[in-house]
Amino acid sequence: MTNKTVKTVVFPVAGRGTRFLPATKASPKEMLPIVDKPLIQYAVDEALSAGAETLVFITGSSKRAIEDHFDTDAELESVLQAQGKEDLLATLHGILPSWATCVYIRQSAPLGLGHAVLCARPVVGDAPFMVHLADDLIDASVPCLRQMVDVFAAQGGSVLGVQPVPPQDTDKYGIVSLERQLGPRIGKLSNIVEKPKPAEAPSNLAVVGRYLLTGDIFNDLAKIGRGAGGEIQLTDGIARLLKRQPVFAYEFEGKRYDCGSKLGYLQATVEYGLKHPSLGADFAVYLKNFVSTF
Ligand code: UTP
Repeated sequence: MTNKTVKTVVFPVAGRGTRFLPATKASPKEMLPIVDKPLIQYAVDEALSAGAETLVFITGSSKRAIEDHFDTDAELESVLQAQGKEDLLATLHGILPSWATCVYIRQSAPLGLGHAVLCARPVVGDAPFMVHLADDLIDASVPCLRQMVDVFAAQGGSVLGVQPVPPQDTDKYGIVSLERQLGPRIGKLSNIVEKPKPAEAPSNLAVVGRYLLTGDIFNDLAKIGRGAGGEIQLTDGIARLLKRQPVFAYEFEGKRYDCGSKLGYLQATVEYGLKHPSLGADFAVYLKNFVSTF
């Protein structure tokens, strides 16, 4: 029987983030802030609210800031303490609950997302686990991974978070085709292909940075070679897994921002800024005035 508890999340953060150069030359794309929180912290918050207890970061060169962010900074804390800045101290203490464990694994070279996920095998073992790509930021009343954990519990197989994309954009994503629809938002996969040209795409349903996978995926990832773009693709591993066990596509509820692209990042910054509890009202006034003079 499938083990339905999901306690581990994998954050592949070893990509070089070339679309954000020079900002990402020495610091990670995942540390780019949306208003006042780095992308990776939104990712961790989402995974914790879905039940994750072990957080596995697959890191590469120039990613030290991520470790520092989730580590205690005793010096900064004593400065804030001495200045009586209790609210900021509470903010720092809220970054990571004490019961969560962080594990950092270095991906020797950026050989692709599939290879990055395979690096987590020694920690994950055979248990089901979540994969979260921090540059896909999803704003949802029920966190996206939480929704997917519920689908996993109901279906008992791997679940991919999907979203329709403009047909001309299929070559930027893993695209799924469905054997059958099981509900308004859930379908059983018949196939998945990485970055198909629009004319060859089986649909416009794209996988967008959220996966809940059974531990069996590791056997597949260990056997596939390099695929699209010369990289070891997670999509190819899932296509192989699909031949042995059912995989489900789940069209999550929520709005996604592609923060790996500059336009998506700016959109997220504006919309999260407008929603910010202490900043939103002033920012809305500024934005209205600015747009009216533009
Ligand atoms: P991207 O395709 O967005 O690549 O990777 P990237 O390097 O981060 O960014 P660009 O395209 O150069 O701007 C998708 C996700 O997979 C991770 C990335 O960190 C990102 O979260 N990844 C990719 C790895 O961890 N290792 C890899 O070898 C490749």
